[in-house]
Amino acid sequence: MTAPVDGGDRLRAALLDDATLVRAVASGRRKGTQPRWRRIEARYVDLKSGRHLQVTSYDATQAHTANHPVGAGSADAVDALLAEGFATWHLDAAEETHQVRVTKRGEVLMHTARRAEPVAVERDHDREKQRLLPPDDPIFRALGLAGADGRIKPSRMAKYRQVEEFLRLLDATVAEARAGGHLRRPTAQDPLRIVDLGCGNAYLTFAAQRFLGTVRGLPVEVTGVDVKQQSRDHNTEVAQRLGLDSRFVVGTIADAVLERDPEVVLALHACDTATDEALARAVEWQAPVVLAAPCCHHDIAAQLRRTPTPAPYGELTRHGILRERLADTLTDAVRASLLRQQGYRVDVVQFVESQHTPRNTMLRAVRTGAVPDGVREEYDALVGDWSLRPRLATLLESVDS
Ligand SMILES: C[S@@+](CC[C@H](N)C(=O)[O-])C[C@H]1O[C@@H](n2cnc3c(N)ncnc32)[C@H](O)[C@@H]1O
Repeated sequence: MTAPVDGGDRLRAALLDDATLVRAVASGRRKGTQPRWRRIEARYVDLKSGRHLQVTSYDATQAHTANHPVGAGSADAVDALLAEGFATWHLDAAEETHQVRVTKRGEVLMHTARRAEPVAVERDHDREKQRLLPPDDPIFRALGLAGADGRIKPSRMAKYRQVEEFLRLLDATVAEARAGGHLRRPTAQDPLRIVDLGCGNAYLTFAAQRFLGTVRGLPVEVTGVDVKQQSRDHNTEVAQRLGLDSRFVVGTIADAVLERDPEVVLALHACDTATDEALARAVEWQAPVVLAAPCCHHDIAAQLRRTPTPAPYGELTRHGILRERLADTLTDAVRASLLRQQGYRVDVVQFVESQHTPRNTMLRAVRTGAVPDGVREEYDALVGDWSLRPRLATLLESVDS
Protein backbone atom coordinates (compact mmCIF):
# COMPACT_ATOMS: atom_id res chain seq x y z
CA MET A 1 0.00 0.00 0.00
CA THR A 2 1.31 3.46 -0.88
CA ALA A 3 1.39 6.39 1.54
CA PRO A 4 -1.69 8.61 1.29
CA VAL A 5 -1.28 11.54 -1.13
CA ASP A 6 -3.53 14.43 -2.01
CA GLY A 7 -5.20 12.66 -4.86
CA GLY A 8 -7.97 14.84 -6.28
CA ASP A 9 -6.57 14.64 -9.81
CA ARG A 10 -5.68 10.96 -9.44
CA LEU A 11 -9.20 10.14 -8.24
CA ARG A 12 -10.70 11.95 -11.22
CA ALA A 13 -8.27 10.23 -13.61
CA ALA A 14 -9.00 6.79 -12.12
CA LEU A 15 -12.74 7.37 -12.47
CA LEU A 16 -12.32 8.44 -16.09
CA ASP A 17 -10.08 5.50 -17.00
CA ASP A 18 -12.56 3.39 -18.97
CA ALA A 19 -9.87 0.81 -19.79
CA THR A 20 -9.19 -0.24 -16.20
CA LEU A 21 -12.03 0.86 -13.92
CA VAL A 22 -14.00 -2.16 -12.72
CA ARG A 23 -16.33 -0.06 -10.59
CA ALA A 24 -16.41 2.80 -8.11
CA VAL A 25 -18.57 3.27 -5.03
CA ALA A 26 -19.00 6.58 -3.20
CA SER A 27 -20.89 7.14 0.04
CA GLY A 28 -21.01 9.19 3.24
CA ARG A 29 -21.00 12.96 3.33
CA ARG A 30 -18.32 15.47 4.05
CA LYS A 31 -19.06 17.93 6.81
CA GLY A 32 -21.01 20.88 5.42
CA THR A 33 -22.17 19.01 2.27
CA GLN A 34 -25.42 17.23 1.49
CA PRO A 35 -25.03 14.70 -1.37
CA ARG A 36 -28.35 13.98 -3.08
CA TRP A 37 -27.64 10.25 -2.88
CA ARG A 38 -26.81 7.86 -0.08
CA ARG A 39 -24.49 5.96 -2.34
CA ILE A 40 -23.52 5.84 -5.99
CA GLU A 41 -21.90 3.10 -8.02
CA ALA A 42 -20.19 3.73 -11.36
CA ARG A 43 -18.80 1.39 -14.02
CA TYR A 44 -18.22 1.43 -17.75
CA VAL A 45 -20.62 -0.45 -20.02
CA ASP A 46 -20.46 -1.15 -23.73
CA LEU A 47 -23.76 -0.20 -25.38
CA LYS A 48 -24.65 -0.36 -29.09
CA SER A 49 -23.94 3.37 -29.24
CA GLY A 50 -20.47 2.94 -27.71
CA ARG A 51 -18.90 2.89 -24.30
CA HIS A 52 -20.70 4.75 -21.50
CA LEU A 53 -20.08 5.51 -17.86
CA GLN A 54 -23.05 3.98 -16.05
CA VAL A 55 -23.89 5.69 -12.78
CA THR A 56 -26.38 4.09 -10.40
CA SER A 57 -27.49 6.44 -7.65
CA TYR A 58 -29.28 5.14 -4.55
CA ASP A 59 -31.63 7.15 -2.38
CA ALA A 60 -33.34 5.66 0.69
CA THR A 61 -35.73 3.55 -1.35
CA GLN A 62 -34.58 3.00 -4.93
CA ALA A 63 -31.83 3.01 -7.52
CA HIS A 64 -31.64 5.44 -10.46
CA THR A 65 -29.39 4.57 -13.40
CA ALA A 66 -28.00 6.94 -16.05
CA ASN A 67 -25.49 6.29 -18.86
CA HIS A 68 -23.03 8.97 -19.98
CA PRO A 69 -21.03 8.60 -23.24
CA VAL A 70 -17.28 8.35 -22.72
CA GLY A 71 -15.65 11.72 -23.41
CA ALA A 72 -17.26 15.00 -22.48
CA GLY A 73 -20.33 13.19 -21.14
CA SER A 74 -18.43 10.96 -18.70
CA ALA A 75 -16.13 13.85 -17.69
CA ASP A 76 -19.14 16.03 -16.81
CA ALA A 77 -20.75 13.17 -14.91
CA VAL A 78 -17.56 12.48 -12.93
CA ASP A 79 -17.14 16.18 -12.10
CA ALA A 80 -20.75 16.34 -10.92
CA LEU A 81 -20.20 13.27 -8.71
CA LEU A 82 -17.00 14.71 -7.27
CA ALA A 83 -18.88 17.93 -6.46
CA GLU A 84 -21.64 16.06 -4.53
CA GLY A 85 -19.53 16.01 -1.37
CA PHE A 86 -19.20 12.26 -0.71
CA ALA A 87 -16.82 11.50 2.13
CA THR A 88 -15.43 8.22 0.83
CA TRP A 89 -14.74 6.42 -2.42
CA HIS A 90 -13.72 2.87 -3.11
CA LEU A 91 -12.43 2.09 -6.59
CA ASP A 92 -11.77 -1.37 -7.97
CA ALA A 93 -9.48 -1.24 -10.98
CA ALA A 94 -8.05 -4.15 -12.95
CA GLU A 95 -4.69 -4.13 -11.21
CA GLU A 96 -5.24 -1.91 -8.18
CA THR A 97 -7.76 -0.87 -5.57
CA HIS A 98 -8.03 2.69 -4.29
CA GLN A 99 -9.46 3.77 -0.92
CA VAL A 100 -10.25 7.46 -0.88
CA ARG A 101 -11.23 9.70 2.01
CA VAL A 102 -12.13 13.32 1.47
CA THR A 103 -11.44 15.45 4.55
CA LYS A 104 -13.78 18.16 5.74
CA ARG A 105 -11.42 20.71 4.15
CA GLY A 106 -11.81 18.93 0.81
CA GLU A 107 -8.39 17.24 0.77
CA VAL A 108 -8.48 13.95 -1.12
CA LEU A 109 -6.47 11.23 0.63
CA MET A 110 -5.96 8.28 -1.67
CA HIS A 111 -4.43 4.94 -0.68
CA THR A 112 -3.62 2.58 -3.51
CA ALA A 113 -2.93 -1.15 -3.20
CA ARG A 114 -1.79 -3.42 -6.02
CA ARG A 115 -3.75 -6.60 -6.49
CA ALA A 116 -1.93 -9.92 -6.21
CA GLU A 117 -3.75 -10.99 -9.43
CA PRO A 118 -5.40 -8.64 -11.96
CA VAL A 119 -9.19 -8.94 -12.27
CA ALA A 120 -11.23 -8.74 -15.47
CA VAL A 121 -13.14 -5.57 -16.36
CA GLU A 122 -16.74 -6.58 -17.19
CA ARG A 123 -18.50 -4.06 -19.42
CA ASP A 124 -21.49 -6.11 -20.42
CA HIS A 125 -24.63 -3.98 -20.22
CA ASP A 126 -27.22 -6.71 -20.51
CA ARG A 127 -28.35 -7.40 -16.93
CA GLU A 128 -29.19 -10.99 -17.81
CA LYS A 129 -25.59 -11.48 -18.88
CA GLN A 130 -24.23 -9.46 -15.98
CA ARG A 131 -24.06 -12.47 -13.75
CA LEU A 132 -22.13 -12.06 -10.58
CA LEU A 133 -21.33 -15.77 -10.60
CA PRO A 134 -21.92 -17.37 -14.00
CA PRO A 135 -24.15 -20.44 -14.22
CA ASP A 136 -21.14 -22.58 -15.16
CA ASP A 137 -19.29 -21.72 -11.93
CA PRO A 138 -18.32 -25.09 -10.35
CA ILE A 139 -20.35 -24.42 -7.20
CA PHE A 140 -23.64 -24.56 -9.07
CA ARG A 141 -22.94 -28.03 -10.45
CA ALA A 142 -21.70 -29.24 -7.06
CA LEU A 143 -24.85 -27.88 -5.38
CA GLY A 144 -27.15 -29.45 -7.97
CA LEU A 145 -28.39 -26.13 -9.41
CA ALA A 146 -26.68 -26.66 -12.77
CA GLY A 147 -26.39 -29.74 -14.95
CA ALA A 148 -23.24 -31.19 -16.49
CA ASP A 149 -23.63 -28.71 -19.38
CA GLY A 150 -23.12 -25.79 -16.95
CA ARG A 151 -26.71 -24.53 -17.38
CA ILE A 152 -29.03 -23.84 -14.49
CA LYS A 153 -31.82 -26.44 -14.33
CA PRO A 154 -35.21 -24.81 -14.96
CA SER A 155 -36.46 -26.20 -11.64
CA ARG A 156 -33.58 -24.45 -9.77
CA MET A 157 -33.79 -21.08 -11.52
CA ALA A 158 -35.51 -19.39 -8.55
CA LYS A 159 -32.70 -20.48 -6.22
CA TYR A 160 -30.08 -19.25 -8.69
CA ARG A 161 -31.82 -15.86 -8.87
CA GLN A 162 -31.86 -15.73 -5.09
CA VAL A 163 -28.11 -16.41 -5.03
CA GLU A 164 -27.51 -13.62 -7.56
CA GLU A 165 -29.65 -11.12 -5.65
CA PHE A 166 -27.91 -12.05 -2.42
CA LEU A 167 -24.49 -11.51 -4.03
CA ARG A 168 -25.60 -8.11 -5.37
CA LEU A 169 -26.60 -7.00 -1.86
CA LEU A 170 -23.50 -8.51 -0.25
CA ASP A 171 -21.24 -6.88 -2.82
CA ALA A 172 -22.82 -3.44 -2.40
CA THR A 173 -22.77 -3.66 1.40
CA VAL A 174 -19.15 -4.82 1.63
CA ALA A 175 -18.08 -2.11 -0.84
CA GLU A 176 -19.99 0.55 1.12
CA ALA A 177 -18.48 -0.61 4.43
CA ARG A 178 -15.00 -0.60 2.94
CA ALA A 179 -15.48 2.78 1.29
CA GLY A 180 -16.62 4.23 4.63
CA GLY A 181 -13.60 2.78 6.45
CA HIS A 182 -15.88 0.51 8.53
CA LEU A 183 -14.40 -2.73 7.20
CA ARG A 184 -10.66 -3.31 6.99
CA ARG A 185 -8.81 -4.41 3.90
CA PRO A 186 -8.26 -8.17 4.30
CA THR A 187 -4.95 -9.82 3.42
CA ALA A 188 -3.97 -13.37 2.51
CA GLN A 189 -2.49 -13.71 6.02
CA ASP A 190 -5.57 -12.23 7.68
CA PRO A 191 -8.60 -12.89 5.47
CA LEU A 192 -12.04 -11.36 5.93
CA ARG A 193 -13.91 -13.52 8.43
CA ILE A 194 -17.44 -14.41 7.33
CA VAL A 195 -19.93 -16.54 9.23
CA ASP A 196 -23.23 -17.86 7.87
CA LEU A 197 -25.57 -18.63 10.78
CA GLY A 198 -28.19 -21.26 9.96
CA CYS A 199 -26.39 -22.04 6.69
CA GLY A 200 -28.52 -25.08 5.72
CA ASN A 201 -27.14 -26.51 2.49
CA ALA A 202 -24.78 -23.54 2.17
CA TYR A 203 -25.80 -22.30 -1.30
CA LEU A 204 -25.29 -18.73 -0.15
CA THR A 205 -22.23 -19.55 1.95
CA PHE A 206 -20.36 -21.05 -1.00
CA ALA A 207 -21.59 -18.31 -3.31
CA ALA A 208 -20.26 -15.61 -0.93
CA GLN A 209 -16.90 -17.34 -0.70
CA ARG A 210 -16.54 -17.86 -4.46
CA PHE A 211 -17.74 -14.39 -5.37
CA LEU A 212 -15.74 -12.33 -2.87
CA GLY A 213 -12.71 -14.61 -3.19
CA THR A 214 -12.46 -15.11 -6.93
CA VAL A 215 -14.48 -12.33 -8.57
CA ARG A 216 -13.65 -9.48 -6.16
CA GLY A 217 -10.22 -10.86 -5.26
CA LEU A 218 -10.76 -10.45 -1.49
CA PRO A 219 -9.13 -13.06 0.72
CA VAL A 220 -11.99 -14.56 2.76
CA GLU A 221 -12.43 -17.25 5.40
CA VAL A 222 -15.91 -18.70 5.63
CA THR A 223 -17.60 -20.65 8.43
CA GLY A 224 -21.09 -22.08 8.24
CA VAL A 225 -23.05 -22.89 11.41
CA ASP A 226 -26.12 -25.08 11.50
CA VAL A 227 -27.80 -27.09 14.18
CA LYS A 228 -28.06 -30.10 11.85
CA GLN A 229 -25.24 -32.64 11.65
CA GLN A 230 -26.46 -33.61 8.17
CA SER A 231 -25.85 -30.04 7.00
CA ARG A 232 -22.23 -30.09 8.24
CA ASP A 233 -21.55 -33.49 6.63
CA HIS A 234 -23.07 -32.50 3.30
CA ASN A 235 -21.38 -29.10 3.16
CA THR A 236 -17.97 -30.41 4.20
CA GLU A 237 -18.15 -32.99 1.45
CA VAL A 238 -19.15 -30.34 -1.16
CA ALA A 239 -16.33 -28.03 0.02
CA GLN A 240 -13.81 -30.84 -0.36
CA ARG A 241 -15.08 -31.63 -3.83
CA LEU A 242 -14.75 -27.96 -4.79
CA GLY A 243 -11.33 -27.55 -3.18
CA LEU A 244 -12.69 -24.78 -0.93
CA ASP A 245 -11.40 -24.41 2.62
CA SER A 246 -14.79 -23.39 4.09
CA ARG A 247 -15.47 -24.74 7.58
CA PHE A 248 -18.79 -26.05 8.84
CA VAL A 249 -19.70 -26.55 12.46
CA VAL A 250 -22.68 -28.11 14.18
CA GLY A 251 -24.18 -25.83 16.79
CA THR A 252 -26.90 -23.37 17.61
CA ILE A 253 -26.68 -19.78 16.54
CA ALA A 254 -26.88 -18.67 20.16
CA ASP A 255 -24.01 -20.86 21.35
CA ALA A 256 -21.72 -21.32 18.34
CA VAL A 257 -18.09 -20.82 19.34
CA LEU A 258 -15.81 -19.32 16.70
CA GLU A 259 -12.04 -18.99 16.96
CA ARG A 260 -12.15 -15.27 16.20
CA ASP A 261 -15.05 -12.84 16.02
CA PRO A 262 -16.45 -12.70 12.48
CA GLU A 263 -16.56 -9.43 10.54
CA VAL A 264 -19.40 -10.27 8.17
CA VAL A 265 -22.43 -12.03 9.68
CA LEU A 266 -24.96 -13.67 7.37
CA ALA A 267 -28.28 -15.09 8.55
CA LEU A 268 -30.53 -16.04 5.68
CA HIS A 269 -33.95 -17.45 6.34
CA ALA A 270 -33.12 -18.57 9.86
CA CYS A 271 -36.50 -19.48 11.30
CA ASP A 272 -38.52 -17.09 13.50
CA THR A 273 -36.43 -15.80 16.43
CA ALA A 274 -33.25 -17.53 15.16
CA THR A 275 -32.82 -14.30 13.17
CA ASP A 276 -32.90 -12.37 16.47
CA GLU A 277 -30.27 -14.71 17.88
CA ALA A 278 -28.09 -14.07 14.82
CA LEU A 279 -28.50 -10.29 15.12
CA ALA A 280 -27.67 -10.43 18.84
CA ARG A 281 -24.49 -12.42 18.07
CA ALA A 282 -23.54 -9.87 15.41
CA VAL A 283 -23.90 -7.06 17.96
CA GLU A 284 -21.94 -9.07 20.54
CA TRP A 285 -19.13 -9.57 17.98
CA GLN A 286 -19.42 -5.92 16.89
CA ALA A 287 -19.47 -7.25 13.34
CA PRO A 288 -18.97 -4.41 10.84
CA VAL A 289 -21.36 -5.94 8.27
CA VAL A 290 -24.60 -7.87 8.81
CA LEU A 291 -26.99 -9.25 6.20
CA ALA A 292 -30.11 -10.93 7.55
CA ALA A 293 -33.06 -12.13 5.52
CA PRO A 294 -35.73 -13.01 8.07
CA CYS A 295 -37.86 -16.11 7.65
CA CYS A 296 -41.22 -16.68 9.33
CA HIS A 297 -42.22 -14.21 12.09
CA HIS A 298 -44.19 -15.90 14.87
CA ASP A 299 -43.05 -14.15 18.01
CA ILE A 300 -44.53 -10.65 17.52
CA ALA A 301 -47.56 -12.16 15.75
CA ALA A 302 -48.32 -14.15 18.91
CA GLN A 303 -47.86 -11.03 21.07
CA LEU A 304 -50.26 -9.07 18.86
CA ARG A 305 -52.88 -11.80 19.27
CA ARG A 306 -52.50 -11.78 23.06
CA THR A 307 -52.57 -8.04 23.78
CA PRO A 308 -55.23 -5.42 23.03
CA THR A 309 -54.44 -3.21 20.04
CA PRO A 310 -53.87 0.44 21.05
CA ALA A 311 -56.44 2.95 19.81
CA PRO A 312 -56.99 3.99 17.08
CA TYR A 313 -55.27 1.06 15.31
CA GLY A 314 -57.87 -1.67 15.84
CA GLU A 315 -58.55 -1.99 12.12
CA LEU A 316 -54.92 -2.99 11.55
CA THR A 317 -55.30 -6.17 13.56
CA ARG A 318 -58.98 -7.00 13.09
CA HIS A 319 -58.36 -9.28 10.09
CA GLY A 320 -55.96 -12.20 10.44
CA ILE A 321 -54.08 -11.63 7.19
CA LEU A 322 -53.51 -7.95 7.92
CA ARG A 323 -52.45 -8.72 11.49
CA GLU A 324 -49.86 -11.21 10.19
CA ARG A 325 -48.50 -8.67 7.72
CA LEU A 326 -48.38 -6.00 10.39
CA ALA A 327 -46.53 -8.44 12.67
CA ASP A 328 -43.92 -9.02 9.93
CA THR A 329 -43.48 -5.29 9.46
CA LEU A 330 -43.29 -4.55 13.18
CA THR A 331 -40.79 -7.36 13.72
CA ASP A 332 -38.36 -6.07 11.11
CA ALA A 333 -38.92 -2.40 11.97
CA VAL A 334 -38.09 -3.12 15.59
CA ARG A 335 -35.02 -5.15 14.61
CA ALA A 336 -33.81 -2.30 12.42
CA SER A 337 -34.33 0.19 15.25
CA LEU A 338 -32.49 -1.97 17.79
CA LEU A 339 -29.53 -2.28 15.41
CA ARG A 340 -29.55 1.48 14.81
CA GLN A 341 -29.41 1.97 18.59
CA GLN A 342 -26.29 -0.20 18.54
CA GLY A 343 -24.54 2.07 16.03
CA TYR A 344 -25.50 0.32 12.79
CA ARG A 345 -26.67 2.10 9.65
CA VAL A 346 -29.54 -0.12 8.51
CA ASP A 347 -31.48 -0.49 5.27
CA VAL A 348 -34.43 -2.83 4.98
CA VAL A 349 -34.61 -3.75 1.31
CA GLN A 350 -36.31 -6.21 -1.02
CA PHE A 351 -34.23 -9.36 -1.29
CA VAL A 352 -35.87 -11.29 -4.12
CA GLU A 353 -38.97 -10.40 -6.05
CA SER A 354 -42.09 -11.43 -4.17
CA GLN A 355 -43.29 -13.79 -6.91
CA HIS A 356 -40.30 -16.04 -6.11
CA THR A 357 -40.78 -16.19 -2.33
CA PRO A 358 -42.80 -14.31 0.29
CA ARG A 359 -39.63 -14.25 2.45
CA ASN A 360 -38.26 -11.37 0.54
CA THR A 361 -36.90 -8.70 2.86
CA MET A 362 -33.34 -8.21 3.90
CA LEU A 363 -31.83 -6.15 6.68
CA ARG A 364 -28.43 -4.90 5.56
CA ALA A 365 -26.44 -3.18 8.25
CA VAL A 366 -23.04 -1.50 8.46
CA ARG A 367 -21.58 -0.64 11.86
CA THR A 368 -20.64 3.03 11.76
CA GLY A 369 -20.80 3.68 15.52
CA ALA A 370 -23.20 6.61 15.02
CA VAL A 371 -26.56 6.48 16.85
CA PRO A 372 -29.18 8.81 15.33
CA ASP A 373 -30.85 11.31 17.68
CA GLY A 374 -34.24 10.22 18.96
CA VAL A 375 -34.06 6.60 17.76
CA ARG A 376 -34.24 5.23 21.30
CA GLU A 377 -37.22 7.43 22.27
CA GLU A 378 -39.16 6.46 19.13
CA TYR A 379 -38.48 2.80 19.79
CA ASP A 380 -39.62 3.06 23.42
CA ALA A 381 -42.86 4.75 22.34
CA LEU A 382 -43.50 2.14 19.63
CA VAL A 383 -43.01 -0.95 21.80
CA GLY A 384 -44.75 0.78 24.72
CA ASP A 385 -47.89 1.65 22.74
CA TRP A 386 -48.14 -1.84 21.29
CA SER A 387 -47.05 -3.64 24.49
CA LEU A 388 -44.34 -5.52 22.60
CA ARG A 389 -41.44 -7.44 24.08
CA PRO A 390 -39.22 -8.10 21.04
CA ARG A 391 -36.96 -11.12 21.38
CA LEU A 392 -33.96 -9.18 20.07
CA ALA A 393 -34.37 -6.57 22.82
CA THR A 394 -34.27 -9.32 25.46
CA LEU A 395 -31.20 -10.90 23.88
CA LEU A 396 -29.40 -7.56 23.66
CA GLU A 397 -29.92 -6.95 27.37
CA SER A 398 -27.57 -9.84 28.10
CA VAL A 399 -25.10 -8.63 25.43
CA ASP A 400 -25.05 -5.14 27.00
CA SER A 401 -24.73 -6.36 30.60
C1 LIG B 1 -34.69 -22.25 5.92
S1 LIG B 1 -33.09 -22.87 6.16
C2 LIG B 1 -32.09 -21.62 5.36
C3 LIG B 1 -30.76 -22.14 4.89
C4 LIG B 1 -29.88 -21.10 4.22
N1 LIG B 1 -29.47 -20.06 5.12
C5 LIG B 1 -30.54 -20.53 2.98
O1 LIG B 1 -31.05 -19.39 3.06
O2 LIG B 1 -30.54 -21.18 1.94
C6 LIG B 1 -32.83 -22.53 7.88
C7 LIG B 1 -31.63 -23.27 8.45
O3 LIG B 1 -31.33 -22.73 9.73
C8 LIG B 1 -31.05 -23.77 10.64
N2 LIG B 1 -31.39 -23.26 11.98
C9 LIG B 1 -32.60 -22.82 12.41
N3 LIG B 1 -32.51 -22.39 13.68
C10 LIG B 1 -31.23 -22.55 14.05
C11 LIG B 1 -30.51 -22.28 15.25
N4 LIG B 1 -31.10 -21.74 16.29
N5 LIG B 1 -29.19 -22.56 15.29
C12 LIG B 1 -28.55 -23.10 14.20
N6 LIG B 1 -29.20 -23.38 13.04
C13 LIG B 1 -30.50 -23.11 12.96
C14 LIG B 1 -31.91 -24.93 10.17
O4 LIG B 1 -31.37 -26.18 10.58
C15 LIG B 1 -31.88 -24.75 8.65
O5 LIG B 1 -30.83 -25.50 8.07
